[in-house]
Amino acid sequence: MTNTPPAVRPARPYFSSGPCAKPPGWSPEQIDTRILGRSHRSALGKERLKRCIDLMRECLALPDTHRIGIVPASDTGAFEMAMWSMLGARPVTTLAWESFGEGWVTDTVKQLRLDPTVIRADYGQLPDLSQVDWSNDVLFTWNGTTSGVRVPGGDWIAADREGLSFADATSAVFAYAIPWDKVDVATFSWQKALGGEGAHGVLILGPRAVERLENFTPDRPLPKIFRLTKSGKLIEGIFTGETINTPSMLAVEDVIAALEWAKSVGGLKGMMARTEANAAALDRIVEGRNWLGHLAQDPASRSKTSVCLTVDGADNDLIKRFAKLLDKEGAAYDIAGYRDAPPGLRIWCGATVDTADIEALGPWLDWAWEQMQ
Ligand SMILES: Cc1ncc(COP(=O)(O)O)c(C=O)c1O
Repeated sequence: MTNTPPAVRPARPYFSSGPCAKPPGWSPEQIDTRILGRSHRSALGKERLKRCIDLMRECLALPDTHRIGIVPASDTGAFEMAMWSMLGARPVTTLAWESFGEGWVTDTVKQLRLDPTVIRADYGQLPDLSQVDWSNDVLFTWNGTTSGVRVPGGDWIAADREGLSFADATSAVFAYAIPWDKVDVATFSWQKALGGEGAHGVLILGPRAVERLENFTPDRPLPKIFRLTKSGKLIEGIFTGETINTPSMLAVEDVIAALEWAKSVGGLKGMMARTEANAAALDRIVEGRNWLGHLAQDPASRSKTSVCLTVDGADNDLIKRFAKLLDKEGAAYDIAGYRDAPPGLRIWCGATVDTADIEALGPWLDWAWEQMQ
């Protein structure tokens, strides 16, 4: 056993699964400050919001069939807005295999009182997706951030579905190739793969979701920040930068800088390649250590962003001490698993993390493990 810590620290020890590492080379000087202190409804404000929307579309490779808009309250706000304004038209199926999916089940049952079909799996597993009845509206999390289990792609989503697919895609976008023709509603926030700031969220609507919004009036009150239609018509302004309420323009400018960085590394393809290289580097670390394992059992549905690891015999107390030690050393921040997940480590491998930093983490994990013995 050695008490000497490894010689090399990760240059940027930021491995949190949200908010995630800022893009490499990020500095506050990159932020365009012209709009700060000015109205988001000025010509410049609208231009910057539109710029943000256009860059997101480009970096997601989002087809023209789908609208993309900036809406209140981060990913949660965007997903709740979709649920509250669209659900109830037909039966609902909700899928859950970790904490966030479970949250959408709770809201569907207890708040919307819709009596959904619930298909569940334990942490580390994916439910049998072939059970899904696509005459229902179907709610799921593309990448389960707290278990490190994701859907393997979009093949399981029926092309001729009658229901709508609702994907909470916050830790999936900019990391995976999303088959947009299979997605009617998707939501995400800026502080995951882009390394932006938590603020407003993003709502993506396919044509069938728009059709639902224009032809279905839910039998429930909708607060102003959830309202997507006026007199039975979609409020198109939301998708061109006329936000429902005031966004943080500092957060908007910050994510514009992040999207410019994303473009500089090759857009979606470049972001995916960086993510895959990071996940592969972490996988090599796991393979080389018998005390580390993947919580996600099946490699086909194992996350490449929020990678969740098991630690031999660990309980919450050990994980807490393990993570605190590496935090104190400045070697790794925020790597304890999510509070509701089985005790373990969680290491973000999205594109804003550098592969060299994942590689440098290996010896630090060994060192911390030795200190725990
Ligand atoms: C899958 C998933 N859904 C929802 C959320 C909540 O997102 P937000 O805090 O942006 O509302 C998170 C946050 O980590 C998440 O990972």
